[in-house]
Amino acid sequence: MIRITEPGRLRLAVLASGRGSNFTAICQAIDEGRLDAEIVVVISDKKEAPVLEKARNRNIDHYHIALQDYPDKAAYEQEIIKKLQAYDIQLVVLAGYMRLVGKELLETYKWKIINIHPALLPAFPGLDAQQQAVDYGVRFSGCTVHFVDDGVDSGPIILQRVVEVLPDDTADTLSERILQQEHQVYAEALQLFAEGKVYLKQRKVVIK
Ligand code: GRF
Repeated sequence: MIRITEPGRLRLAVLASGRGSNFTAICQAIDEGRLDAEIVVVISDKKEAPVLEKARNRNIDHYHIALQDYPDKAAYEQEIIKKLQAYDIQLVVLAGYMRLVGKELLETYKWKIINIHPALLPAFPGLDAQQQAVDYGVRFSGCTVHFVDDGVDSGPIILQRVVEVLPDDTADTLSERILQQEHQVYAEALQLFAEGKVYLKQRKVVIK
């Protein structure tokens, strides 16, 4: 069994491609004393991502690193790793990062990269998880905080929250209610890391 982080204030990096509502929720949890952490750097692969502006407004260092500026994905990820190491970060928090994480990052930050997915994994991995849930006709969906491995949303599960799917739900209305839960559960999961309570036993996460 391996302990993922020792107790103490977490140094986080956020990787995101879009609007950054989970980034904001994590910042709020820190501000309100619910999460003993600091977001020290935000990296986006999209130049126009609102998350970069949100980081700027909070005086958090932020960078746009674009895949197309590098010869291949390995070189792109090496650039990200350089930044993460310069900021001495402990956990990489994916928050709407719309790319598969490659070998370089996975190897350098083994079991130190976490993601949130808007479904109850292993159901509905990949894109449009809320639409998949509505189309399938499940009664309950939700969100999952999990470790990132080399599959698609397939890593060990840390925490989940259930959200009821209502008869009239569209992907949009369901997404909105799932998002509210995401904002709670991501901060809660991170606090478990800050308390040094997260262990990994083969593919199972043990919270002590
Ligand atoms: C969330 O629904 C999250 O579950 C998924 O991407 C979305 C990101 O939203 N991975 P935001 O950028 O944090 O608002």
